Amino acid sequence: MWGTLQNLWDRVKPFDCATQSCTGFHDLNQLPAEISQSVSDSYPPNHNYSVVDDRLLPSRKLGTRVAHFRKYYPRQLTSLLDLSCSKGFFVFDAARESTCERALGIDLCDKTLATCRQLKQHFEHSERVSIEKLSLAELACQIDAFGGTFETALLVNTYQYLFFGSPIAPALSRDHCEIFRQIRRVCHGRVIFHNRVTLNRVQKHIRETADGAEWGRFYTPEAIRSAASEFFRVTELPVWGGHPVWLLDAL
Ligand SMILES: C[S@@+](CC[C@H](N)C(=O)[O-])C[C@H]1O[C@@H](n2cnc3c(N)ncnc32)[C@H](O)[C@@H]1O
Repeated sequence: MWGTLQNLWDRVKPFDCATQSCTGFHDLNQLPAEISQSVSDSYPPNHNYSVVDDRLLPSRKLGTRVAHFRKYYPRQLTSLLDLSCSKGFFVFDAARESTCERALGIDLCDKTLATCRQLKQHFEHSERVSIEKLSLAELACQIDAFGGTFETALLVNTYQYLFFGSPIAPALSRDHCEIFRQIRRVCHGRVIFHNRVTLNRVQKHIRETADGAEWGRFYTPEAIRSAASEFFRVTELPVWGGHPVWLLDAL
């Protein structure tokens, strides 16, 4: 009930994108036009923002997501890892916190990684930001090169790709335990997990593949949560934005 009310309120409450803006940039007007255009209107649409003067102004959906997940950050964020950084808003937003020494975004999409790197050149705390084309497994093998494990990690709307694969990369593993083992290797604190955890909620292009048919019966909230609980204490929060939010605190 509370979750439903909160979801409804998030959709209708007055939204001032300025209060959620990510400051600390300079000379953004020198960004190539195609970058400014693509961050405001591209996949995923809930990660769209505008580039204005010295800041990134999130769309309502993105601003609402950032505000929601921030509630689960530690009071003083010291390091953040975004396991699918996409257009980078969560990474830059973390790195502008004075206490945040390291913010790393990994992804496998060349286009969005290039966008993040362009933005980094205009960011005043760029020494705190790393953007890398790495899979979770590749990162786990070289985590010391990035200053060691991270205190806070985001795994948002990506778990289905780690399990089923996608056109840009194969599955990390068909074993949920192995996926969480790798996540635990890169995060010693809290993972904020907001993902599609039932086959009927994953994207149609996954559901309708042979893999979806073959492996879908193993893609259940119970199986995923049970694997997560081998490495993390799992706190289930009310469904938000159509999907569960789990806080995974490292054991
Ligand atoms: C729906 S977007 C979510 C992005 C971001 N976490 C957010 O919530 O805005 C899915 C992300 O997963 C990445 N991705 C796609 N296939 C992947 C794969 N096989 N392994 C790892 N990441 C993948 C995409 O590049 C994209 O950044």
